[in-house]
Amino acid sequence: MYIATKTKAATTTASSNNSRLLVYRIDGEVQLPRVPLETSNEIDFMIPQTDAPIEVIVAGDLAYNRNCAVCHGMDGISLRRDTYPDLRHSSRMLIAASWDSVVLGGELQDNAMVSFADQLVDGEAEAIRAYIISRAESNFAEQ
Ligand code: HEC
Repeated sequence: MYIATKTKAATTTASSNNSRLLVYRIDGEVQLPRVPLETSNEIDFMIPQTDAPIEVIVAGDLAYNRNCAVCHGMDGISLRRDTYPDLRHSSRMLIAASWDSVVLGGELQDNAMVSFADQLVDGEAEAIRAYIISRAESNFAEQ
């Protein structure tokens, strides 16, 4: 369980400056992870509309800030986009199955984005997606 607060600096599994410590082993077969990150952030797409009720968005806000903000940034705003994708720009928000594949299915677990299936209760991944869509919409409106 991750607890995110506004006052405490985030402690994360990835470093903030993208430097890496490489440990070599004879006969080692592990491939280096790709650097820099290539994420669904780089895809241009139209921000979708969400018709989720406000209670769902609020639940998504709480679940996001409790579980995801420590890496992806408070209120959906990533302060280190090179390491942690700013989810307001992630085309994964478009399709629930694509979102769930990462958030619940661990599709990107080799890149330090583990599954949150054990942390989230039913519907929370979808509520977070609705919240991120609403954050993307307001970010777009402010530009
Ligand atoms: C320990 C840090 C950490 C936490 C906590 C975390 N993530 Fe991630 N997340 C990452 C990293 C690192 C990536 C980039 C993975 C890659 O390069 O493929 C990522 C990628 C993603 C992506 C794919 C973005 C894209 O455009 O490719 C989604 C969606 C995502 N995270 C959602 C979430 C959600 C929702 C939560 C909370 C339930 C969460 N993450 C919590 C580290 C984290």
